[in-house]
Amino acid sequence: MPEQRSAQWYAGTDRNAYIHRAWMRRGLPAHAFDGRPHIAIANTASDLAPCNTHLNEVAESVKQGVWEAGGVPMNLPVVSLGETLVKPTAMLWRNMAAMATEEMLRANPVDGVVLLGGCDKTIPSLLMAAASVDLPAVVVPGGPMLTGTFRGQPLGCGTDVWKLSEQVRAGELPERAFIASESSMIRSRGHCNTMGTASTMACMAEALGTTIPGFAGTPAPDSRLLEGAHATGRLAVELVAEGRRPSAMLSAGSFRNAIIALAAIGGSTNAVVHLLAIAGRLDIDLSLDDFDRIGAGVPLLVDLQPAGRHLMEDFHRAGGLLAVLREVRDLLDPDALTVTGRPLVEHLADAEIWDTDVIRRRDAPLQEDAGIAVLYGNLAPQGAVIKPAAASPSLLRHRGRAVVFDSIEDMHHRIDDPDLDVDPDSVLVLRGCGPRGYPGMPEVANLPLPPRLLRRGVRDMVRICDGRMSGTAYGTVVLHVAPEAAAGGPLGLIETGDYVILDVAARRLDVDVPAAELSSRQPSAAMVAGFATPRRGWERLYVDHVLQASQGADLDFLLGASGSAVTRDSH
Ligand code: FES
Repeated sequence: MPEQRSAQWYAGTDRNAYIHRAWMRRGLPAHAFDGRPHIAIANTASDLAPCNTHLNEVAESVKQGVWEAGGVPMNLPVVSLGETLVKPTAMLWRNMAAMATEEMLRANPVDGVVLLGGCDKTIPSLLMAAASVDLPAVVVPGGPMLTGTFRGQPLGCGTDVWKLSEQVRAGELPERAFIASESSMIRSRGHCNTMGTASTMACMAEALGTTIPGFAGTPAPDSRLLEGAHATGRLAVELVAEGRRPSAMLSAGSFRNAIIALAAIGGSTNAVVHLLAIAGRLDIDLSLDDFDRIGAGVPLLVDLQPAGRHLMEDFHRAGGLLAVLREVRDLLDPDALTVTGRPLVEHLADAEIWDTDVIRRRDAPLQEDAGIAVLYGNLAPQGAVIKPAAASPSLLRHRGRAVVFDSIEDMHHRIDDPDLDVDPDSVLVLRGCGPRGYPGMPEVANLPLPPRLLRRGVRDMVRICDGRMSGTAYGTVVLHVAPEAAAGGPLGLIETGDYVILDVAARRLDVDVPAAELSSRQPSAAMVAGFATPRRGWERLYVDHVLQASQGADLDFLLGASGSAVTRDSH
């Protein structure tokens, strides 16, 4: 076996090597430092990231696998982000989590790493870190929770929160029934059980080749999760022996496979921002347009909430991601590798669909063309995205009068106002929610509908925002508008009463205002007053350096790889 990176700390008879070994012994045998690989377990378990609390148990299985294969496992708690708790939005901290993990992997005697994530931002931040530090890395997705039920009906964690709360706002569901559903929403350990962002990013990790094939989507309480974690620990030792690093494994073809998977599963729009950010760390030339170009013509094969009916437990039972990918095998890059050292396509031969109600065959898709659509126009010069699979077909071509909200607070203040001048054809515009303006690009783009319209039976309207949308949400929502209003984007110049034209087939998003008039307008003072102006700390760094959504919303100085070399000693 080649000399390990960790030998820079542990090998030799000098004082520094003595110090490094002695402080680590604490019961570890001497042979733990004889040159065998040290595998970090970058562990996002946290009581304040409830979707990831079970990862300490998963880490124990990884450890067993690492020991068994001749390595030495090291639990490394890293920054974790609980999507439902962290304010102002977990996305503000994704890059910080990635940067901290990257730095700790580089700073420590680590030869390879197992990445334990689950809740929305955790797998993206771990993959961004691993890509930059470029140590052999493999993901263990924490897995979705089991299906809960309420009043005899399955509950889609996340998606049904939006549905039930809209029913309360429409006067169709008593508030006490809504509250009663609370204890049924989270049936077990694990992350959200819809095809939301966490499930999507687990599938993206697998499609990229960074998990053991077939592992993503294994429910968190399923004993096969621990079995897979054990196998992943073993594999991590092999990755180090083979020198299988992210830079050697991940290619443009890997991202092609991820984009095809994203379309076929009807995955979260958040994956667009995360995949762009991960590719940016690898210097892989991935653009927003690639999502539209590569995803075009890919059928929607998975009938899962929020676009469909079923939940992740059903998805796993029906065959999981490999069964989906087998249906679109001809579209996949044949050479893109996985952590096994073999191409992804070689792992599809035995995949089968066990329930065609959940995973459709290619010749009977839920929708023919399910990719993310990328829109341009005078409202989005650098692009905006929409997920047609989650939208109302009748609204994909629409002209409507804008009702503009200058901030999330403005929207909360006015959306329930019975005198709000809005009708079912109106286009709701929410701005000031981009990466820089909020800051952090929160999941607010699926803004709630006015109660007056809900009571008339309206369940969807065109909504436009420079922020993101929860992967569990649905509706005709145009989001990630770039440049954002706080970066001088024209979204900041639109006024209530302007007419907005959405044409998804033509990939256009425009406001029907002459160019000269639009450019002569000044941004509203109320909107500008709401933009973030942090003076210190992470927020300051973030606002000064964050890139637009169309570039992955990473920090400009974190693009590219940094490698794992450390040139100076601590003593
Ligand atoms: Fe953690 Fe949904 S809140 S995955």
